Amino acid sequence: MRILFLTHSFNSLTQRLFVELTRRGHDISIELDINDMVSIQAAERFQPALIIAPFLKRAIPEVIWRKHPCFIVHPGIIGDRGPSALDWAIMNEYPEWGVTVLQANAEMDAGDIWSAETFPMRQAKKSSLYRNEVVDAAVRSVLTAVKHFAAGSFKPQPLDYANPTVRGQLHEPMRQTNRAINWQQDSSHVILKKICAADGFPGVLDTLFGEPYYLFDACIEGQLSGKPGAIIAKRNNAICLATVDGAIWIGHVKRKSSAESSLKLAATLALKDHLTNVSEIPLDPFSTNPGETYRDIWFEQKNAVGYLHFSFYNGAMDTTQCQRLREVYLQATRSDVRVIVLMGGVDFWSNGIHLNHIEIADSPADESWRNINAMNDLVQAIITTDKQLTIAALQGNTGAGGVFLSLAADTIYARENVILNPHYKSMGNLYGSEYWTYLLPKRVGKEEAIALTQNRLPIGALEACKIGLIDDCFALDQTHFKKKITQLAETLAIHSSYSDLLQQKNSRRESDEQQKPLQSYRDEELRQMQLNFYGFDPSYHVARYHFVHKIPHSWTPLFLARHRHQKIRI
Ligand code: COA
Repeated sequence: MRILFLTHSFNSLTQRLFVELTRRGHDISIELDINDMVSIQAAERFQPALIIAPFLKRAIPEVIWRKHPCFIVHPGIIGDRGPSALDWAIMNEYPEWGVTVLQANAEMDAGDIWSAETFPMRQAKKSSLYRNEVVDAAVRSVLTAVKHFAAGSFKPQPLDYANPTVRGQLHEPMRQTNRAINWQQDSSHVILKKICAADGFPGVLDTLFGEPYYLFDACIEGQLSGKPGAIIAKRNNAICLATVDGAIWIGHVKRKSSAESSLKLAATLALKDHLTNVSEIPLDPFSTNPGETYRDIWFEQKNAVGYLHFSFYNGAMDTTQCQRLREVYLQATRSDVRVIVLMGGVDFWSNGIHLNHIEIADSPADESWRNINAMNDLVQAIITTDKQLTIAALQGNTGAGGVFLSLAADTIYARENVILNPHYKSMGNLYGSEYWTYLLPKRVGKEEAIALTQNRLPIGALEACKIGLIDDCFALDQTHFKKKITQLAETLAIHSSYSDLLQQKNSRRESDEQQKPLQSYRDEELRQMQLNFYGFDPSYHVARYHFVHKIPHSWTPLFLARHRHQKIRI
């Protein structure tokens, strides 16, 4: 079926639906919701059988929904209407939430219902619930709705609040007054809930050192305490604030400013001038029982397997994080483990170098250079590991340099739901490094490597398996995926062929090195990156600026808007 996506951005949900529907043989083209005329033109050109709006911030123009059936994906249960759907579900601590696919009509979110799915709520950030439970439920719901639509005979259900099974309702947009923290009254649990309900966007507006900041990325501290509202500690990226019944860590903040557009930054970076007297409370990444606290890198050993977690907010890895991770990795290689599993983070495995931290550096070009070199040092340490076998376990999505970091491992497994974006080109023709010119063709061959890096499209884990980019994927939730990985890693560690496998890996590396030294790949890639960072063409700096400041697209890139470059088949 010819399906047009009308969407605010090509975000994680849109990417996943693109992959799932393409996999099922549908013909998908995408138009970003830029203005009514462009959307109308897109529908005219593509003549879709169906329009799907996975992520829209405004209503579909009437001329479109009158002419074409339009399905809206709403992140709420049947009857839920209005923005801030997930925000209210988290704030109200609903045990269950859902996704509804409804047909666009004159009233926002009130059209006939084609399908709906529910899921149990988890205590987590809104952004995490969106990228996991909501995306999964939306995929199930859209696939059902498309099947219903294709059947031709299905009658969608009108929204009827008299029906007792309709539990949702119309609600107001959540405002900062609903989110505000009262540090003298709110418990850590309430503060956590408020920040989680605003995570990703818009954050909770609060005051730090007399200035307004939005707070993000919170977690509970189990041991420290102090005067409520006071900053009592810092650790790596995060600051710790005392509450009436304990303390809470804040990993990221964004300054509210009417004068200039500001960025979401690590709290210790954004507030560094104020934190000189706040004590740093380090935590050993190898600590076996740290209790409830903030940590972004930690190592766990079970039997002969070591699990290295790096849970970086949004999967972005700045220079210091890459350096710290490399240190911990190297320390792990000196331990008695036989297999090292690179766990990444739950929401994102990794998204490569940290574009926000680069953007605010005195010299973004110099910081880009430092960051990519720190990333390369980490990748190099993994590629040249000769005493362990390594596994990358992709629990969450991964993009750009993050994908190539995972290819440094000997074996790559993913959850089937994971989306990979193995390309850099969308970031202003960034050439990329992370030894991708060595790692990628080795896995998929030269032609496929060119296709992946030039097409700039997301691929699903199943497709990644098919072309050999990764080794296997499993249709499992987070908990069962971790169990599966543990089982695979433990079996490998005690397998009779372990020593042979290690030896084969080392001889392969040796012969690869003789053919062309790793350093040559690095030098060649960095020569291109030097041009990206310091050359005459500013495309990378412009694209990064647009990305970090979330400047809306003024046109849909042609690799997405296929209807703009293909002959229309009627
Ligand atoms: N540096 C800093 N922030 C990053 C980031 C990076 N490398 N990659 C993603 N983010 C942030 C986004 O700004 C967004 O921030 P928010 O919390 O304010 O919303 C958040 O992570 C989620 O990203 P988003 O783009 O909404 O997620 P997605 O699932 O829709 O798309 C990617 C995922 C990877 C395709 C997309 O984020 C991307 O292109 N990232 C840039 C990758 C890159 O070019 N890295 C540099 C070269 S190695």
